[in-house]
Parts: sequence; C-alpha cells; structure tokens
Amino acid sequence: MDQRTAKQYFSTELLNWYMQNKRDLPWRRHRNPYYIWVSEIMLQQTRVETVKPYFERFITRFPALTDLAEAPEEDVLKLWEGLGYYSRARNLQAAAKQVLELHGGEVPSEKDAVFNLKGVGPYTAGAILSIAFNQPEPAVDGNVMRVLSRYFLIEDDIMKGSTRVKMETLAAELIPQGRAGDFNQALMELGALVCTPKSPHCLTCPVMEMCKGRIEGREDTLPVKKKAKPPRPEQRIAALVTGTSTNEGKILVRQRPQTGLLARMWELPHVLASVPGGLASQVPDEPAMDMMKGHLLEEGYAVNPKEFWKIAEHTFSHIHWNLQVYHCEQAEHIVSPAMVAERNESYKTEGDVYKWIGPEDMETMAFPNVFLKLIKEHFVL
Ligand code: ADE
Repeated sequence: MDQRTAKQYFSTELLNWYMQNKRDLPWRRHRNPYYIWVSEIMLQQTRVETVKPYFERFITRFPALTDLAEAPEEDVLKLWEGLGYYSRARNLQAAAKQVLELHGGEVPSEKDAVFNLKGVGPYTAGAILSIAFNQPEPAVDGNVMRVLSRYFLIEDDIMKGSTRVKMETLAAELIPQGRAGDFNQALMELGALVCTPKSPHCLTCPVMEMCKGRIEGREDTLPVKKKAKPPRPEQRIAALVTGTSTNEGKILVRQRPQTGLLARMWELPHVLASVPGGLASQVPDEPAMDMMKGHLLEEGYAVNPKEFWKIAEHTFSHIHWNLQVYHCEQAEHIVSPAMVAERNESYKTEGDVYKWIGPEDMETMAFPNVFLKLIKEHFVL
C-alpha cells in the first residue's frame, strides 16, 4: 500500500474508533475554551486519572476565566498542590490576566494570539485551537509522537526539535476535513488506551493492519528516544521544628523566594548539605544536625536538634532531592516577634519568610508534595 492509502486509512479508522470508544472526561462535556485550556495544562506531565479531581475542583472554584485572573495566587497554588510543576499554575493565571486585558476575557481563537499566551507552547496551542475551535492545527506531544513513530515506522529521536516539527507536519496532513478536534483527541486517546509506552495492545488497535511498526515487529522498540540527562542529586538536611511556649503545637515553615524552583510555595526549612566527604550514610548524623542548627540560627531561629526522623525524596525534572529530616525543638526566640515581622517584610523581595503554623493553616497554604506528606504525617491529618 502506498503512503497516501496508509494515511487515509489511519485517519478514517482512528476517527471511527474514537467516536465509539472515547472516554467520558470532565473537560469533554462542554466545549468551553477556558475548560479545555485548563485541562490541557493540567494534563501536561500528569495522567488523566490524576487530573480529573483537580480539574473539577479548579473549575468549581474558578468557573470562569475572570475568576482565575482575579484570584490570589495562593488560592491557585493551593488548588494545584500535589500536581507538581507549579510554574504551570502560575503561567496559567498570568495568561488568564493577559486574556482579560487583551481579549476582554474571551480565549482568543486566532493562532498568533493563542501562541502568545504565557505557558502555551505549540502542543497546547494546537490542542486549544483544534479542540475548542475545531481549527486544523496539529497537537503533538510525546504520546502522539509514539503513535506516529510506530504506525509510520519513523526512527528519528523524538527528543529532537526537528523530529517534533516533522511530526507536526505529518499530523496536520492527517486531520480529516472539519474534524480537527475529534481527530486530535483520537490520537491522544489511542496513545493513552491502546498504543501505550510498554506492551502496546496491538490486537485491539483500530489501525493495526497497516501499522508499519507492528508489521516489522518494532512496536516495542519505537519511538526512538535518547535518554535525558538524569536529575542532579542533592543531599539536603531538613528540620521539623516544633514550637514551645506561645508556639506550642505549631511547626516552623518558610516561604520560598519569589522566583525559581517552587517559587512562593511553603516548605520545611532545609539546607544543602555541604559536609566534608558528604553526609554519613548512618543517621543520626551529628555534622548534619549541627549544620541545620547553624543554618536556622543564621536565619534568626535557635533550635535544638532532637533526633533523626526519616528520609524524604523528591524528583524534579532536573534535580533529585534526598532529604534527611530531623526533629528539632524551638529553643529561645532570639528574634523578637516585631523583628520577625520586619524581617518578613523586607524578605518579601530578598528571600524567605518564616512562620509558625498549626494544622488549620494547611487549608490555605500551598506546599510541594514532599513537605505536604511530612507535615500531614506530623499533624496526623
Ligand atoms: N492528554 C492530553 N490532552 C488530552 C485530552 N484532551 N484528552 C485525553 N488525554 C489527553
């Protein structure tokens, strides 16, 4: 069969299959461009099943784009808590403000305007334009590249920008007349349900008969994907500081700086371990405890390290944190409350803000998962 037949067969069969097998997903129940946009941002790097409850809560709290644009950032981060990649949430809100200012609160349907939204790259722009406005734009992410690599037996490295461009051209050619939204979602659906990364379900695939990858027995070795650099390991020492006297029942947390990794989220105090020869594999580790104590003293908090609690780990896209967490107790409050308030004020632009919190504060402050788990365990939430 020639390439043209292979393409036509693919588009027709895939679309038919989708119309009969598509999942009932919350963002598919309305064709609201704002909902589609929110869902596509949440679905980046996150599985559909995880996204569903987050999406429902988000839309309930911010039913219209204006509600999102006008909300305090803390509320947005709180609703995103646990989804990770928090710059997605910050960019989404910044872009909602852009839409309010530049387009009167209506998500634009012009290609250039959509591409100009903060946090919207070629994939998300294509998804919004096709799913919300049925425009014949490709929406190519890793899942779609996997499907196309296998079906057309494309051996280019999908980590390369040039491969993505090639795939976008191909994906655009495959869109059936007037069916961009359904077709792009069909591609995503096939990647999610049938043409899965491991052990693809070829026997139930609607396009298996003409899938070159399967015919050549290459379905398990495609797509070609050069390994990304492994995340850089960082050993950190963290403290769960419990308060005494007026801070009884509370713990010490701090807010991260305005920019960079996990910007403005709350965390337990921690410090990069720079102990000569690295941290001891044995815990409790005296030098580590001393280092934590010294770090907090510099920050204005005197603490007594008590005992090793546990190891906590978190992987970001480029860093892997290994945290040795110690129980500490507040010693004396060497900085007066007034000085802390003053410090916090000046720190808003320069560094971290510290705060004593109780379990009730967990309802409003946003923590990255690794700290959320530790604090919930401590407060027995
Ligand atoms: N993954 C990314 N976008 C999706 C969508 N709209 N439906 C299902 N899975 C997706």
